[in-house]
Amino acid sequence: MKLAVLKETRASETRVAAVPETVKKLIGLGLDVTVEKGAGAGASFSDQAYKDAGAKVVDTAEKAAKNAEIILKVQRPDEDELKLFASGAKLIGILSPYADEKAVKAYAKAGVDAFAMEFMPRITRAQSMDVLSSQSNLSGYKAVIDAAAEFGRAMPMMMTAAGTIAPAKVFIMGAGVAGLQAIATAKRLGAVVSATDVRYAAKEQVESLGGTFVVVDEEAMKDAETEGGYAKEMSDDFKKRQAEFVAAHIAKQDIVITTALIPGRPAPELVSDGMVRAMKPGSIVIDLAVEQGGNVAPSKEGEIVDVDGVKVVGHSNVPGRLAADASSLYAKNILNFLSAFVDAETGKIAFDWEDEIIKGVLLTRDGKIVHPALVKQPAPEVVETVDETEE
Ligand code: NAI
Repeated sequence: MKLAVLKETRASETRVAAVPETVKKLIGLGLDVTVEKGAGAGASFSDQAYKDAGAKVVDTAEKAAKNAEIILKVQRPDEDELKLFASGAKLIGILSPYADEKAVKAYAKAGVDAFAMEFMPRITRAQSMDVLSSQSNLSGYKAVIDAAAEFGRAMPMMMTAAGTIAPAKVFIMGAGVAGLQAIATAKRLGAVVSATDVRYAAKEQVESLGGTFVVVDEEAMKDAETEGGYAKEMSDDFKKRQAEFVAAHIAKQDIVITTALIPGRPAPELVSDGMVRAMKPGSIVIDLAVEQGGNVAPSKEGEIVDVDGVKVVGHSNVPGRLAADASSLYAKNILNFLSAFVDAETGKIAFDWEDEIIKGVLLTRDGKIVHPALVKQPAPEVVETVDETEE
């Protein structure tokens, strides 16, 4: 069974979907691994390292994809790339189907069975395959490092003969995987850290990392989590009260890092232009949700915007800024996914179409779109809160 690892085609993508260590193990699963030349270059993995691991390295995507039954990618393929895939090929990647529904139709038309790794169900068995967690964890860390690099002050308190430097105040909005890692990293650097989330379950996790959890509406927050552990969209009333609270809190912060996402919906706007302007000059805002529409009004994808002396940072592909680690973890997520579907008798990969994991990630099969979220869009669930000031 031929498995191809292609070089990423998108401009800001530095990651690769298999690394020499996982290639060795994929070969151990009985796969013939072919890697496109230069596929690992952005993440510092040389062609020679792939060869040493047992892969065949070829000089074009066309040669790599030819007759491949499994194709590994980080991001979704573009139209030209898709033409290279054989009908019946299994495409595995972070395919962002909500961002590009046309691409999903194109996979079906090309007869490609597409697996979107970011749709991995959040069940214990699939934890080691969870690409959102592996990549967000690195993003949360890097957001703090990026903020520290832009910040014209120190993070920890420093008592020197020349005087005392106060510790930086860091506020993290959204305490999921990225936010919790950002809290831990900022704490390690000596900052005073506070955080908020709409999910009340996040309170204990924030506090266990030494952060202060700031609450907007305890009752509404108790109902803000889906069964899958994600946030629901909040009511307009909640959003209004959250904005008032955030405005007052943000004005006192040195660094704000936003990570809030709602699956399948644009990111909620949490920080307005006015709130940024109310911060002290020299403050830093990092918007990790910038690619999903942004949590911060003035943020721009791929840019650092100066708003009255406050730097609003909107780096795209933050995990790709730690390409080697992000690739290694992503590659292991894929290896764990494939390993779960090795048939014990034949030793070959055989996907179980009834398995909850496959049902969770499979977008297209045999020329049809099969994922329930794409076949029929359910109405989004909104958490209602009662505005006690109204009759
Ligand atoms: P995410 O990336 O979808 O969102 C980031 C955070 O933003 C979430 O904590 C969310 O509650 C928060 N958020 C959304 N709207 C907000 C708003 N208006 N204001 C403030 N915060 C807002 O979420 P992520 O990081 O992927 O994970 C969410 C939770 O899922 C985790 O904390 C964890 O409990 C659970 N999880 C479970 C896993 C498993 O069982 N395998 C693996 C990873 C996470």
